[in-house]
Amino acid sequence: MSKLHRISRRHALWLGLGGLAGMTAIALGQHQANHQNYGLEDPTRDFSVMGQQSLGDRARAKGLFYGAALSPEQLSSDADFVRALLRECTMLVPENAMKWNRLAQEFDDYRFEPADALVAFARRHGLGIRGHTLIWHRSLPPAFAERVTSQTAEQAMQRHIRRVARHYAGALHSWDVVNEAVEPSHDRTDGLRVSPWLEYLGPDYIELAFHLAAEADPQARLVYNDYNLDYDTPVDEARRRAVLRLLERLRSRNVPVHALGIQAHLDGDEQHRLNPTQLRHFLREVANLGLKIIITELDVTDRRLPADIARRDRLVASAYEDYLSVVLDEPAVIGVLTWGLSDRYTWLTEFKPRRDRRAVRPLPLDVALQPKLAWNAIARAFDHAPSRS
Ligand code: XIL
Repeated sequence: MSKLHRISRRHALWLGLGGLAGMTAIALGQHQANHQNYGLEDPTRDFSVMGQQSLGDRARAKGLFYGAALSPEQLSSDADFVRALLRECTMLVPENAMKWNRLAQEFDDYRFEPADALVAFARRHGLGIRGHTLIWHRSLPPAFAERVTSQTAEQAMQRHIRRVARHYAGALHSWDVVNEAVEPSHDRTDGLRVSPWLEYLGPDYIELAFHLAAEADPQARLVYNDYNLDYDTPVDEARRRAVLRLLERLRSRNVPVHALGIQAHLDGDEQHRLNPTQLRHFLREVANLGLKIIITELDVTDRRLPADIARRDRLVASAYEDYLSVVLDEPAVIGVLTWGLSDRYTWLTEFKPRRDRRAVRPLPLDVALQPKLAWNAIARAFDHAPSRS
């Protein structure tokens, strides 16, 4: 078998083992053990909200930011949605447009226009914008699998980070420099994910990426971003420990990492696994390393919640408020982004569909851009959050 062929097969394996597939498998496993647990359902729970301010205004009043992930296509094709974004958000993040495989198919052939449109829009309207993401095993362009080897991997990383981070230098609030580098189920003592980067460059690829990003964009806050950090389960606990170990190592070696990004893709059917004491403790441990924390991709899947919309929306809203009221208590948390603003555009339609095929309702606004109880829940959490300023 040729070397090239072998490499692409290995890449396929790594990608197959990747976060999303793993997450789904784990979620299914937990579900079987814990069938239809709506133990926290409270039909009398109060989601009332005072005043007319948007989520962004409420966040800002506490020295926080609120924003959402979006795509260039939404901006150019959906004026109503754009109005909703402008009303609710003080921060934006490209859902996909800044990923390596969206910017370039070939090395050195970058197409920045779609992502540039998002940055220009944010600037025009005085909104912050985050960068997502420079190094992620799931967003490598085809050319990577075809041509990169352990001899050329460092140069490939260097060229990519320099090209992209310099292009946006000074314009971004923060960069997710490395995404999802931890995977305890891969059974390494350091808890790192077995990815092409790890295989080619060893564990130090992570610090290399942060150094390159700091050099290319000295103003952006540099973030390590990961998922499954939220619940009191063995899987999440292993990931919390591995992430902490990684962050400690980076800090002890003076690597320029400034914040932890917690994706927070929550599950409305797993909310009984929220353990406030444990989560607060983890956030404190991160803060004690001198790091800020951003909730980067919050949403609540309703895939296993009852079909009835009123009940479903209450359970989703409960998940939002219960989670945010814990994390916003931690002063190191500086802002929250949801992974989309309206159910009109959510990755969960494809990634976590309901068995009954009904439309999913995971975000603050419904498909008609009307606020749901999830909106109230987020508003309430900001209103009750301690002030940062
Ligand atoms: C997802 C996007 O929402 C989808 O549109 C895309 O097909 C796959 O990626 N963690 C991340 C995000 O860091 O980049 C992922 O976004 C969701 C999980």
